[in-house]
Amino acid sequence: MNRTQEELILKAKEYIKTFLDDDSSGHDTEHVFRVYYHAKKLSEEYHANDFIVGLTALLHDLDDPKIAPENSNRALSFLEENKIKEKDQIMEIIANMSFSSHMEGKSVTTLEGQIVQDADRLDALGAIGIARCFAYSGFKNRPLYKGREDDDSAIAHFYQKLFQLPDLMNTDLARELANERVRFMKSFLQEFYIEWVVKE
Ligand code: ADP
Ligand code: NI
Repeated sequence: MNRTQEELILKAKEYIKTFLDDDSSGHDTEHVFRVYYHAKKLSEEYHANDFIVGLTALLHDLDDPKIAPENSNRALSFLEENKIKEKDQIMEIIANMSFSSHMEGKSVTTLEGQIVQDADRLDALGAIGIARCFAYSGFKNRPLYKGREDDDSAIAHFYQKLFQLPDLMNTDLARELANERVRFMKSFLQEFYIEWVVKE
């Protein structure tokens, strides 16, 4: 990265804080910084364009319909205001990388997109993933658990989405990390089910 690009990354870090610092849905600034960190590591390993990876990671959740106002265009505004010439590549990745986009049959085709997608998915797994899943469920007024794997509870979300993520990883390195995190989540569930049943 050159000097100008490094400055733009710093600017983006400040920019996202103004929107995500107070988030309580699991899409907070710290989530974004973790995605940025994992994406940077993967970018080094796979020799991707670290400026595109870094900026996309930082901007990826700003306009997520789950947390942003309708017609929000915070990412695009940042890219345009700062005359970032990689704008279209970055916007294309953001538009296609979410789990809901995956369910609609969309995919990310560039190495940079695949890396940011893997980094975002990693943060939905492990101890952090458990915490974020419960936070999001609370944010949506959904139950913890209803004894089933196919309803809208937080625990059901583990089966419906989170446990699929290792197989959906684009890179081998992220898949390995994801598998470890899923193992941890499964041992968490074993304990959860034991404690869930109250013996009178
Ligand atoms: P993506 O960035 O791939 O779209 P999401 O925004 O769907 O991912 O997920 C962000 C976080 O919110 C994840 O930790 C995920 O577990 C959690 N989450 C999303 N949907 C649900 C749900 N229906 N129930 C519980 N947690 C959810
Ligand atoms: Ni995210």
